[in-house]
Order: sequence, then structure tokens, then C-alpha cells
Amino acid sequence: MPRHFLHTGDWTRAELERLIEAAFRFKRGEDLSQPLLGRAIALVFFNPSLRTRASMQLAVQQLGGYPIVLEPGSSSWTIEFRDGAVMDADKTEHVAEFVGVLARYCSGIGVRVFPQLRSWREERTDPIINAFARQSKVPIINLESAMHHPCQAMADMMTIREKLGAGRKRVALVWAWHPKPLPMAVPNSFALAAVQMGHELTIAHPPGYELDDDLVRDLAMLAHDAGTRVNVTHEIEEAFDGSEVIYAKSWGSRLFYGSPEEELEMRAPYRQRWIVDEEKMRRTGGAIFMHCLPIRRNVEATDGVLNSPASVVIDEAENRLHIQKAILARLFGGAG
Ligand code: CP
Repeated sequence: MPRHFLHTGDWTRAELERLIEAAFRFKRGEDLSQPLLGRAIALVFFNPSLRTRASMQLAVQQLGGYPIVLEPGSSSWTIEFRDGAVMDADKTEHVAEFVGVLARYCSGIGVRVFPQLRSWREERTDPIINAFARQSKVPIINLESAMHHPCQAMADMMTIREKLGAGRKRVALVWAWHPKPLPMAVPNSFALAAVQMGHELTIAHPPGYELDDDLVRDLAMLAHDAGTRVNVTHEIEEAFDGSEVIYAKSWGSRLFYGSPEEELEMRAPYRQRWIVDEEKMRRTGGAIFMHCLPIRRNVEATDGVLNSPASVVIDEAENRLHIQKAILARLFGGAG
């Protein structure tokens, strides 16, 4: 069974710390090793991407490897995931063959596959990335699945370390209004990694936008073990008071999975208040502003915040490259 990189919960804090240290060595230009020399890595994108796609292609190439980018349903065949499926509809190839063949060509497979936001009960189990992991004899790297985006979360942890130094920080994950319901992968992974790294976490969202119950339980247990705490509030201002990191992100309500129109009605009253603006940032006394990008300006955060020195979103995006090189070197080079 290969070691996959599906979510940070499968990795210890010490391992995550080593990934961040390795990423800084790549960023400073101290590590020029090429553990992927002569090897190919498949990057399978079911959904659009700027940062993940560009940074993973570059990471593989800078480590001496060759990225093979595939887009099922467009530049490669449509894929069936269900075990025992009778494939007489629109799906051309089963994940068993797709992964089996790719593993003969490639040392690892990165996968981006968003949820369709149709069935919370099904999609909260992350069925597609898990189907890849079950079938694969080579490591699977999660490039954002229904429930997790661990490469983003590790770039976020690296950025907090880079900007604020080592040690526990007061970190706030703040829900923002958005014109459509979005997946929960980023907030889930950010919250999980932040608590694993020992940070004190406040999660602010309107009622009805709770994260997954199992994840929230895990956060509480991890926080207890790390001697820190997780605070959940429905008051956006509370998230800003005394925080050192403001991490804005929108996500959809699991109460209205499959009903985007009803979900939009539910969130309509939050548009004016649930935005990161200069006034709220002033409550922090100097916090950095983070967002995974892409961000809708003057909807999730104002121009004033994004153009201010507090915003570290471009550094955060750059750090995707360095942390992914560290993850690849760990999975394929044995480092750490
Ligand atoms: N943050 C992030 O994953 O960006 P992309 O969707 O552009 O890859």
C-alpha cells in the first residue's frame, strides 16, 4: 500500500513540520535536489485551476520529473467510479483501468475533483479521491477533493510561519458571502492543519454553515491534545478581535446541498455584513489577511484589504510551489 497525501490528518505534526522546513529550503534555493529525475507524475484535473495546475507542473519539473496533465471528459475519457457499475451510460473508462494504466507510466498521480454539491451524505465521504487511493499502487496526491485541499493548507501553514514566526498564533477562519455555494475542502483543510500545528482557531460563520460534524469533533480532540482551543462563533466581528491571521473563505451550507437556489436565499441576508473590510481588519491590531484564491474582490474582501500590506495572498500562492516540492520530495525521494 503506497503512502498517499489525501489530507493532513494522516500525517503527524512532526511530519508536517518537516514538510514546512523542507519547503523553506526549496524557497531559499538551498535544496536543488532532483528526486523525480527520469520519473513522470500524472496530474488529473476534473475541474479548472490556475495555482494548483501551474505550481504542480513547475514543482514536478524543478524536481527533475515530467508532468502529464490529463482532463477527464475533455482531453481524456470520462471515468466511472462505482464498484460493480454497468457502464452502459455516458462513462467510458473505469477508475480501475484508468489508475492501473497510469501507474505503469507514472510514479504518482495528483487528482483534483470537486464535489458536485448534490448529496452531502455521499460527498462528505470523499468517494472519488478515495476510489483513486483504493485502486492505486502509486501515491495519490490530493489536489482538492470534495472535503480536503491539503496542499493549500500546508502552503497556508508555511505562510503563517513565514510571516509571523514559529509558535502558537491566534487564527480566524471567516466565512464570506459569495454569489454561489462553494465546496468545503479549503475551510476543512485549513482548520485541520491549523489545529494540528497547535494554533488557536476561531471559526466564524452564520448559522447553518457548520463544518462537517466529524471534522469538528476531530478538531476538538486535536486541540485538546495540542493544548489549544477551537472557538466557533456566529458573530463575524468576534473573529477579528485579537486575531493575528484572518483567513477568509466562502462555503456552501450542507443543509441545502442539491438546492443552490434555496441556499442563495438563505445566504442573501449575509451579503453586507460577511465581508472582510478595512474596518473589521482594524479590530485585529495588525493581522495578516489570507485567502486561497481565486477571490471575488469587493464581495469576499474589499479592494482596500487586498491592496493593503496586510494581504499576503500572493506569497501564499507562491508557497504552493515550495510546499508541493517538499511533499513530492517526501513521497518520491524518501526525505524527511
Ligand atoms: N487555491 C487554489 O487551489 O487555486 P486554483 O483553484 O487556481 O488551483
